[in-house]
Amino acid sequence: MAYETIQVNPVTPTIGAEIAGIDLRRPLGNQQFKEVHDALMAHQVLFFRDQDLTLDEHKAFGRLFGELAIHPNAAAPEGHPEILPIHADANSKRISGERWHSDVSCDPEPPMGSILNLKTIPPMGGDTIFASMYAAYDALSAPMKAFLGQLTAIHDGGPNYSRTNRLQGIQSNKVFPHAEHPLIRTHPITGRQAIFVNPVFTVGIKDLPEDEAKAILEFLYEHCNKPHWQVRFRWAPNSVAFWDNRCVQHIAMWDYFPNVRSGFRVTVKGDRPFYRPH
Ligand code: SIN
Repeated sequence: MAYETIQVNPVTPTIGAEIAGIDLRRPLGNQQFKEVHDALMAHQVLFFRDQDLTLDEHKAFGRLFGELAIHPNAAAPEGHPEILPIHADANSKRISGERWHSDVSCDPEPPMGSILNLKTIPPMGGDTIFASMYAAYDALSAPMKAFLGQLTAIHDGGPNYSRTNRLQGIQSNKVFPHAEHPLIRTHPITGRQAIFVNPVFTVGIKDLPEDEAKAILEFLYEHCNKPHWQVRFRWAPNSVAFWDNRCVQHIAMWDYFPNVRSGFRVTVKGDRPFYRPH
């Protein structure tokens, strides 16, 4: 693909590209917006350097791609309900995203994308690893693709959010989102198929007994987490990562305790997942 207004430097042939020649603090022109969107569709996760965004600039960039979501279980900074603080320090009992997941996949309309701008980076560690669920799907055999294509997965925010609240000593009777999604989802823009289950939110497979569902999910989690379709991002202060939750899973490494790692995320709303066989 030819880009005229940005430089797109793929990090691996499968997933991830560094984008240069753009200032996310300023409004993007139509062509630059289109090229960032095209690059996201092609590479699934984009990395930007030296983007010292204010919360308003961060939200404005996110809004170019859709309405912003409010996280179902997080305290936002005053006046910015759409901002999700991502913060860990010596007092943390947990961090956000420390197991493989696609953001808030328990929502009936899970977010299309997430945009994270980290401000404070530990002296070492704190990387985020992203995995292409297109590539994980493509590597399956034809009979396995056909079998999985018939299945519906059950996603529930309750177990994960209740656990994280308990770890932080937060008492809450909140009811968290719950949804059923096709286990294989068709990307609404690229038309590619992606595996759409993850160990944080998927709690079962519809119409399958628990032991069968468990065996299939365990196989898929091991398969999805293979290094062959991963890219590992080393953050610097003011880096931005923008990932497409419809085809990417990610995990944040908590290998820097007791150091501080801190920044902000916005999450762009998405559509109800569907599966269209090819
Ligand atoms: C998340 O959005 O899951 C957190 C990712 C990160 O902190 O690297």
